[in-house]
Amino acid sequence: MKALMQELRENALKAISGADSADSLEALRVKYLGKKGELTAILKQMGKLSAEERPAMGQLANQLRAEIEKNIESMRKKLDAAALEARLELEAVDVTIPGDEVKLGHKHPMYKALDEIKDIFVGMGFTVLDGPEVELATYNFDKLNAEEGHPSRDWSDTFYFDKDSRVMLRSQTSPMQVRAMETMELPIRIIAPGRVYRKDEVDATHSPMFHQVEGMVIDKGVTMADLKGTLNTFMEELFGEGTVTRFRPHHFPFTEPSCEMDVQCHKCGGKGCPTCKGEGWIEVLGAGMIHPRVLEMSGIDSEEYTGWAFGMGLERLAMRRFKISDLRLIFENDVRFLEQF
Ligand code: PHE
Repeated sequence: MKALMQELRENALKAISGADSADSLEALRVKYLGKKGELTAILKQMGKLSAEERPAMGQLANQLRAEIEKNIESMRKKLDAAALEARLELEAVDVTIPGDEVKLGHKHPMYKALDEIKDIFVGMGFTVLDGPEVELATYNFDKLNAEEGHPSRDWSDTFYFDKDSRVMLRSQTSPMQVRAMETMELPIRIIAPGRVYRKDEVDATHSPMFHQVEGMVIDKGVTMADLKGTLNTFMEELFGEGTVTRFRPHHFPFTEPSCEMDVQCHKCGGKGCPTCKGEGWIEVLGAGMIHPRVLEMSGIDSEEYTGWAFGMGLERLAMRRFKISDLRLIFENDVRFLEQF
């Protein structure tokens, strides 16, 4: 029996040291030490021994079991360590390998200009509004005092959706004046940037879709002087101190008096050059005192309240802000152009 145990010991230790996985180790444990294992089979023969021999043999068996278990345990640790090592090797990251360059986009120059414009007006206490590009002619024209028959309502100027000319792509952001008057508490100080649409051919200064920033103030005692002061302050904030501007009389159905505002050309300083088409000035917005009829149509007492409004061309402001010479560059989205900002 001792010889059998000796043999078992040798076989077991050899097999254990040759095991190559946790699974095969477990199989060996079952084979040698399990309930139906080889050691158990040997111990079943204890009955054949004499009473004197049994304790020594039992002790021997216990020692053998302990030794095999210890070997299995240490082999398991070795295998675990090797497995970890292999995994670390496999998953190793060489942080010194140069990475793939991720190209980050950035804001379009026109929207950069818009951010600056919003900041300036918010700083002056204005609220920024957003409104529909698909608009009712009522808001785009009627409530702005541009009645039936006004030339800008013509099908050759405006994109309509229906044959009755009721639903349209807004041709200006001015309908936001009416929407603000109808929904907001007085006094009102808002700007409303957004896209507008007109049936224009594309050239260096025109596009059938462009952007405006509408602005409006309504309060008691508001005058044309406030309009000029606010817009001059704004232009200096956006283009720098000492920016030269001028106001020219103009006509809009919804303002009276009306004007247009020009900014002196940054390229030639007013002498006239290709950028300003020889004018020396760049027209940037239309403005005026809100017509009393427009206030009344939206339920505001024009005896008590006055107001002014402006609508500026965002592309034009962005072009001057970033010294861009052609409107088409803003829409073509050529990365070689956009990357410069
Ligand atoms: N909506 C006018 C335009 O598109 C600009 C404007 C706005 C004029 C507000 C006066 C007041 O030309």
